[in-house]
Amino acid sequence: MVNIAVLGYGTVGSGVVEVIGRNQEQISGSVGEEVFVKYILDLRDFPGDIYEDRVIHDFNVILEDEEVSVVCETMGGVGAAYRFTKEALGAGKSVCTSNKELVARHGTELLALAAEKHCSYMFEASVGGGIPILRTIQTSFTAERIVAITGILNGTTNYILSKMETEHADYHEVLKQAQELGYAERNPEADVEGYDTCRKTAILAALATGRAVDSEEIYTEGISAVTLADFEFAARMNRRIKLLACVRVQEDGKLLAMVAPFLLPAGHSLAAVGDVFNAVMVTGNMLGDTLFYGRGAGKLPTASAVAADVVDCARSQGRTVMCGWSEQKAAMVDVAEIKRRFFVRTHAATAEAVESAFWGKFDAAVSEGVYCGEEYGFFTPMIKEKDFEKKCGELGNAISGKIRLL
Ligand code: HSE
Repeated sequence: MVNIAVLGYGTVGSGVVEVIGRNQEQISGSVGEEVFVKYILDLRDFPGDIYEDRVIHDFNVILEDEEVSVVCETMGGVGAAYRFTKEALGAGKSVCTSNKELVARHGTELLALAAEKHCSYMFEASVGGGIPILRTIQTSFTAERIVAITGILNGTTNYILSKMETEHADYHEVLKQAQELGYAERNPEADVEGYDTCRKTAILAALATGRAVDSEEIYTEGISAVTLADFEFAARMNRRIKLLACVRVQEDGKLLAMVAPFLLPAGHSLAAVGDVFNAVMVTGNMLGDTLFYGRGAGKLPTASAVAADVVDCARSQGRTVMCGWSEQKAAMVDVAEIKRRFFVRTHAATAEAVESAFWGKFDAAVSEGVYCGEEYGFFTPMIKEKDFEKKCGELGNAISGKIRLL
């Protein structure tokens, strides 16, 4: 029998226990022996819960129990979760987690510790919820040089953007719905300001390059500045708005990683990804584009990914499930130097001046400009990010909205 402990009996933790209970036959069959949830660690009691007798409040019980070989950390945060993970790995117990904040911040150290102690640190659920993307990158892309990853990695923001687009819904109302549905982080700022996507981007970039990627070095913008007016223009211009994680690995190995809202052509594969769904497009140098799609948030899809890691750890006891993420730091490209096109919104009265500042003339046929209500929106020519920002600074209040073009 493989005994496991679950740390945190919240949305994901209770989901892990449920998945292991409901799919017991499948899971035990995959491992070759029974997988048993011996302990559930939480500060609270759960009277009436079918697993109430497994609930404990002292982590040391788990640490000192030699029968427990796999620990699922579904607490979240980087406080107690970090300490418990280090102690569990230090004791040779494998750890499976959905905690992207902890993986992004301390993954390098925790992976090294797992390797030293001949156990595993696994985190499939930390990116893309139920999409098995990390395992796929590490197994099916081993003959590829990954040149790009473009993804919709946050269910909450995709849900909000989809509702704003299709129902012209109010941003705050939709955010509330997402929280009620259990998609949003405890602090919604992490979702809407892009921090959650940024952490997932750091993890993907580390696996794509095999190098440590500091999430604080990833340029990040959220969706809080996206308005219904942007969606009106996007519809007129046959585009969609999505919060994208963009990872590009240059020939010289340097990494460009950023998170921001983008305008996508309506026919782009990622444009059709709506609601809470996530999708990750991985581009290999031989393979070209591949697309992975699924539920990016929610109790059971996320828990299923944690449970799959439990199976891997249980099958690999006494050795480390290798993860190509070294301690060497990735060299980052400065986003300010990247050339791209932008969508710009301005008042109709300032249309000529603003468009001329970018094109040297006012010509809607060239800039693909359209009027919508009292505003004018157009696309800039290719321009470096830093030069675009400089021009925007010079134009000041004349610019009422801007979004990058994919
Ligand atoms: N808040 C996250 C999301 C949860 O909405 O995608 C899953 O990581």
